[in-house]
Amino acid sequence: MRADWLCLGEHKVLRETTEYWTSAQRQSHSLHEVSYRACFKAELPLYFIERYSAEGDVVYDPFMGRGTTLLEAGLKGRVPEGNDVNPLAEVLLRPRLEPPTLEAVAARLGELDWDRAAPLDLDLSMFYHPETLGRLAALRAYLLERAASGELDAVDRWIRMVATNRLTGHSPGFFSVYTMPPNQAVSAESQVKINRRRNQRPEDAYKDVPALILRKSKALLKDVTPLERLLLDEVATGARLHCCDVRDTKAIEAESVALVVTSPPFLNVVQYAKDNWLRCWFNGIDAEAVAEAITTPRSVRDWSQVMFDCLLELRRILRPGGRIAFEVGEVTGGDGEVRLDEVVAPLGIEAGLDCERILINEQSFTKTANCWGVKNNRKGTNTNRIVLLRKPS
Ligand SMILES: C[S@@+](CC[C@H](N)C(=O)[O-])C[C@H]1O[C@@H](n2cnc3c(N)ncnc32)[C@H](O)[C@@H]1O
Repeated sequence: MRADWLCLGEHKVLRETTEYWTSAQRQSHSLHEVSYRACFKAELPLYFIERYSAEGDVVYDPFMGRGTTLLEAGLKGRVPEGNDVNPLAEVLLRPRLEPPTLEAVAARLGELDWDRAAPLDLDLSMFYHPETLGRLAALRAYLLERAASGELDAVDRWIRMVATNRLTGHSPGFFSVYTMPPNQAVSAESQVKINRRRNQRPEDAYKDVPALILRKSKALLKDVTPLERLLLDEVATGARLHCCDVRDTKAIEAESVALVVTSPPFLNVVQYAKDNWLRCWFNGIDAEAVAEAITTPRSVRDWSQVMFDCLLELRRILRPGGRIAFEVGEVTGGDGEVRLDEVVAPLGIEAGLDCERILINEQSFTKTANCWGVKNNRKGTNTNRIVLLRKPS
């Protein structure tokens, strides 16, 4: 353990660096295994959920992404409440809070009309075998119709989540030819170049859409125990998921939240908009509108303004004595190397919160810790810097 003091005017904040959690200690639950840019590992929210909340408490993540915090909260009997300005976040999380049985998924996949004609409004032939694409289009049309008529149920939502996750990738488990994963989808033009460079033809790469959905469902559901199903059954019905700008979450009641565990978007390091186009298309979401809504500040100054407003809103909804674990990283922005914990701590104090301490989890590098799409400390992070704030009682 290493420690130093951060002096912020009249406030002194202890900053401790150690390996607070390790991936070897506990393997994450299989339900977490969906990819999302800049997601954190489940061990991070678990550390704070276990220490700063009790069963039945509301645990909130205002930038929920794939919903790592909220799934972990649900699995531990806490009531998940979440928000993300990108509607894909709910598409990915909601079904994992209400997981169907594998039998129910298999039955629904068996009932679907995979051969129905569903004309497409864009050319995706560089990604998929024609028959695979036909089946994907049939599934998309079915899901969009069910959503429009209000008939989409938990099994449909599960299938939609798994299919969204399998759209593209570089292993045989994905619907596409070799390409980037769906959370970093390349453009159609780039895919044509990839095919040329790799000498690959989508016509030679038939993928069985329902079989792959079933296979991934089996992997995701592998760890779900009957007790967890009961816990999720109780809390998932109470789970409120919002799709708003973080600064304006009126639907959340004042003083209703016990704990916030979150990680905000960082400057403009991750291109959420570009990355999301194919997943948005499959889900009938306007990717351009999402791109505009997502916060991508260009300087630490702009970023600080958004985070300050966000902290004020979190203070409103936090119950007295409630805590915020605000995870940031080390990034190189226009302003050079910045320790964002040193930016967030004074913002929290200015927003009327106590800064209890700063935890820096230092971990040997692993694939998921490579969470900003970069591979070293020069442009990203392989440590988690967490500012722990508390609303005064
Ligand atoms: C770093 S990711 C969070 C990842 C999450 N911790 C996980 O494990 O999946 C940041 C998220 O903030 C969302 N976001 C960006 N700007 C936002 C805003 N102004 N209001 C709400 N959400 C926003 C993005 O869509 C993205 O999902």
